[in-house]
Amino acid sequence: MANETAAGWSRPQRVLHWTMAALVLLAVPVGLIMTALPFRELLLKFVLYQLHKTLGLTVFVLVLAQLALHWRRGRPAWDAGLPAWQRRAAVAVHAALFSLLLLTPLAGYLTAATAPAKIPTLFLGVIPVPHLVGTNPVWFGVLREVHVALATLLVLLACGHALIAVQHHLKGRNTLIRMLRACE
Ligand code: HEM
Ligand code: HEM
Repeated sequence: MANETAAGWSRPQRVLHWTMAALVLLAVPVGLIMTALPFRELLLKFVLYQLHKTLGLTVFVLVLAQLALHWRRGRPAWDAGLPAWQRRAAVAVHAALFSLLLLTPLAGYLTAATAPAKIPTLFLGVIPVPHLVGTNPVWFGVLREVHVALATLLVLLACGHALIAVQHHLKGRNTLIRMLRACE
């Protein structure tokens, strides 16, 4: 596990956290709108699919960077007043968030690759991302369900996590402040 001696979250850790959170919260409505759009809006549908995939793939890369920083630099020491069970709960929630942040885009990528429609994946709308597996309607059906279930879990857990952060803040702890700005 990461060491807990750092004074606060480093600037790259803070920037990565908020960028990644914003991209996840943007990928969800884009995903819902693009799937709901009728086929007569084909161009907009296609653009939103590419935007959604770009946001999701970027989340995947940013989370790898965030994990690398977590292990190299560690995390700030826990608030002295935090009971041991709450520390354990926070460790478990962060581990679950990291896992979902990796698994959701991975399932999304496999959904896109196996889709019978054979829509290419274009990062930023121009850079082709190879589909390492071929189309398969049966797997597509399964993977799509898995992708949506993982995305739902991710959003629910992230909301709970954010509420707990705000609750700590209201109790006068610096948990949220030190994720927002540098602390001594
Ligand atoms: C954290 C990242 C991601 C989140 C939170 C997310 C979330 C979602 C959501 C909410 C939907 C709509 C589901 C529905 O209404 O049926 C969706 C659909 C989809 N996502 Fe993602 N997604 C992520 C990453 C990705 C990535 C990286 C890719 C591909 C490279 C991808 C490909 C797709 C595809 C192809 C669909 C449509 C499936 C269908 O046609 O029904 N997603 N995603
Ligand atoms: C999709 C949204 C979000 C995701 C996926 C997410 C994920 C994470 C992860 C994985 C960590 C652990 C970082 C590490 O150990 O390196 C973390 C820490 C943190 N997050 Fe979030 N987060 C999200 C949104 C938010 C929001 C909206 C808030 C505040 C309202 C917030 C407040 C915090 C705080 C204060 C910490 C540090 C907790 C501590 O000191 O133990 N996060 N977040």
